[in-house]
Amino acid sequence: MPMHPLLSPEMTGYSTPDPLRLAFSGKTSAHVNNRPRPLTPEQQVATWQRLMAEPGEAGKRLAYFHIPFCRTHCSYCGFFQNASKPGLIEQYVDALIRDIEITAASPHIQARPIHAVYFGGGTPTDLTPEQITRLGDTIRQHLPLSNDCEMTFESRFSGLSDEKMAACIDAGFNRFSLGAQTFDTFIRRKMSRIDTREVLLERLDQLVSLDQAAVVIDLLFGLPYQTLDT
Ligand SMILES: C[S@@+](CC[C@H](N)C(=O)[O-])C[C@H]1O[C@@H](n2cnc3c(N)ncnc32)[C@H](O)[C@@H]1O
Ligand code: SF4
Repeated sequence: MPMHPLLSPEMTGYSTPDPLRLAFSGKTSAHVNNRPRPLTPEQQVATWQRLMAEPGEAGKRLAYFHIPFCRTHCSYCGFFQNASKPGLIEQYVDALIRDIEITAASPHIQARPIHAVYFGGGTPTDLTPEQITRLGDTIRQHLPLSNDCEMTFESRFSGLSDEKMAACIDAGFNRFSLGAQTFDTFIRRKMSRIDTREVLLERLDQLVSLDQAAVVIDLLFGLPYQTLDT
């Protein structure tokens, strides 16, 4: 089949007998590293206020909400920030809601519709159903979401109970992006992924059977103990 014009071997990987080493040979780090320079706390406040006072560039916009908590630190991941503690998560959600309510009134947020919302992390499934509902209600009430706004819940299968799926869907999420990484239980356990293959498949079946949202999963290639077969 001919390759789609937007796809290139740099994106899809080179066909090579040694894909673990050579498929993405041009990529030297897992994440974009453009040498960011952190702002001082004083600069952060002034910069945020200046940006929120301006309408910003024309074009479609998205809002990203970071949920910086995880139950475990997976061996391959540089995103881990805080261990999930219920009291800390509740404080964070309260602060986030206050922040959304205040910031939503700014010229920047009200300038144009927001076409996509992401909850990422970290692990948004470590929120309780009640916290998911409160955050979703606040976002829909205060932000100028477009009619066709795509709302994505990025997370993992661990802790994605029936109640949390229902809370996400009621809150308006219409897309789930979940990290599976591998369905091999042995490899999963070696990198501190908690759940077994069976749990993943059962949760995935349940979510898909609701037929209420797009569901995509991440898979990782090149994990320790992983072979081409697995
Ligand atoms: C930051 S995680 C958040 C989702 C969720 N906590 C999870 O465990 O799947 C988002 C995704 O980033 C990807 N990721 C994390 N570390 C990576 C790495 N070293 N290389 C490639 N992708 C990575 C994984 O696919 C992961 O699912
Ligand atoms: S749960 Fe997700 S964000 Fe947290 S350490 Fe694992 S991959 Fe990274």
